[in-house]
Order: sequence, then C-alpha cells, then structure tokens
Amino acid sequence: MITEKIAQLTAEVSKLQAQTAQDVETLRIKYLSKKGALNELMADFRNVPAEMKKEVGMKINELKALAVERIAALREQLDEQSAESDDADLTRTPYPVRLGTRHPLTLVRNEIVDIFSRLGFTLAEGPEVEDDWHVYGSMNFADDHPARDMQDTFFVEAHPSVVLRSHTSSVQARVMERQQPPIRVVCPGRVYRNEAISARAHCFFHQVEGLYIAENVSFADLKQVLMLFAQEMFGKDTQIRLRPSFFPFTEPSAEMDISCFLCGGKGCGFCKHTGWVEILGCGMVDPAVLEASGIDSAKYNGYAFGMGVERITNLKYQVSDLRLFSENDARFLDEFTAAN
Ligand code: PHE
Repeated sequence: MITEKIAQLTAEVSKLQAQTAQDVETLRIKYLSKKGALNELMADFRNVPAEMKKEVGMKINELKALAVERIAALREQLDEQSAESDDADLTRTPYPVRLGTRHPLTLVRNEIVDIFSRLGFTLAEGPEVEDDWHVYGSMNFADDHPARDMQDTFFVEAHPSVVLRSHTSSVQARVMERQQPPIRVVCPGRVYRNEAISARAHCFFHQVEGLYIAENVSFADLKQVLMLFAQEMFGKDTQIRLRPSFFPFTEPSAEMDISCFLCGGKGCGFCKHTGWVEILGCGMVDPAVLEASGIDSAKYNGYAFGMGVERITNLKYQVSDLRLFSENDARFLDEFTAAN
C-alpha cells in the first residue's frame, strides 16, 4: 500500500509544473507543509512492519528530496523569467535601501533653534554671499578693522565689496533694516573664514546668532536667556560664567563659559582642567549698530549673542576633528542614527 503511494507521488512530483509564484506556493503547501502529502506518508510509516522500515524510509527520503528540489527549481525558473521579462521595473531602488540619518550639525542646529523658539525667538535667514556693509559696515567695524583683512575674509575677486559672510550677524543687520522693534530672532547659517583646514579650524563652519531689540532691555535679560539655553542644551545642573570681552557691535561684550559638560566642573582633559568651556559671545547691541540700520537708539536697545554649531556639537558628542563634519564619511554619520 504505502510503496504504491510513494511510487505514485514520485511520478507526480517529477512532473510538477507552475506558471506563477502562487502556483509554486500551492505546490509547496500540498507536498511539503505540515499537513502536506509527505507528512501524511510519515504518519502511515508508523504502521509499516519493522522489517520493511529501512527500505520504505529510504524511499520516503528520496521522495522528499525530489519534492524539495523540484519546487525550488520551479521557483528559481519563475524568478529568472520575471527578471528577464519586460515588465521588470528597472528603475526600482536596489535593495537593501540604507536609511539616511540627519547630519550631526543639523541635529544640533535644530535643537538650538528649537530651544530659542520656545523662548519666543523666530527664525531669520540671509544670503551667504554678502556685501561688505551687512557683514562689517553696519556692524560697526572700523574701515581698517583686522577682520576685514584678507586673512579672514573671502572676497569675490571681481567685486571687492562682495564677500562670503564671516559671521551671521549680517542677517541681524538685514532684519533690523526691514523691521522695527520689538525684534526677537535667531539666525542660523554657514559662515566662511580664510583659515587653513586642520582638526581645529575650517574655512567654513556654522553659527546661530540671536538678537533681541525692544525697550528697556537689560544685561540681566540676556543672562537669563543664556542660562535657560545652557540648561536646556547641557542639562539642569549646568552653570554659566560671563567674562568681559570685545566685539565691535556690542558694548559691553562678554564671552560665556559653561561648567564642563564632561566632568561637571571638576576639571578634566577636555576643559583643560579649568572646569569651564567657552561656548559663545554676547553683549548689549552697540547704539551705533541700531542707528546704522535705522532704529532709534534713544528709544530702543537690546542684546545679541552668537555661537558656533560645531563647537556645541563637539561638546555634546566629543567629535575630535572638525574635518569629520564635512567629509561625509558614512561611518561617521551612521554614529548619529540613534540621535535622529
Ligand atoms: N558675530 C560674532 C562672531 O562671529 C559672535 C557674536 C554675535 C558675538 C553676537 C556677540 C554678539 O564671533
């Protein structure tokens, strides 16, 4: 009985045909699935007398191998046909499709903008190719200020008064030109400086600057906003410290340090054992800057601040070499997948 069944199934299996992938699947279910013909045979096998078990067992194994092979062959044949056929979609993206990640500088820029937008700042952007007036003149740089020197600024050869902006303060100038106070903006963007490329310097980098102009703005307002920013960005226990500094466009001016993000202020290699790391420049907008853009400095005053996105990113993620940000090495970018 069982030997006849095996012979009949063997004949059947060796002639199997299929037109579609669905046919192949139906055959697989019919012969090879849990409730398929082969498993049914195995159930009958239990009743085979002991002396015949070896012979019958071998036959069943042969049949099973034949069925597996035949069904695999049919599937392969269909796959080949569909690859050759005219309706194969040659424009389809090849698998596997790699999932992209946001660039770390974009992540940090967004985070900075997001924190300030919760404090009421709106976004302002402006051109990277600028004129001397918006980058320097309106920002109270004297004609012979060293920042205008070839060492720092990229000039457009045919037009010496056209430059690649060296800071995003130029966007502040453009906002003040077209809008009367109250003004509360953050200006993120790429800036250019003529520096030799190394692990610690690059000829382009990114900044976010902020500007607040209204009536009776005080240095305490500036300090409060910067403290909120530092604590949102680096954690609630972050301390800030302001040191006197100089910028042509602010008076008084300061540089802000935060307690070292890595050691919590105790002192480590990263903060050069001082417990503090510098993160931004700031100050009260010089009245001359307001006047240059048509804002009445007797009525209004305000503050400005500016920070490097690379620097903040380095603090958050300890990126040791600035060049990594612009080399687009997928191994580096992939490390930020979890932060996306
Ligand atoms: N524009 C300054 C720079 O590029 C940063 C800054 C902005 C400082 C606003 C003070 C106020 O270095």
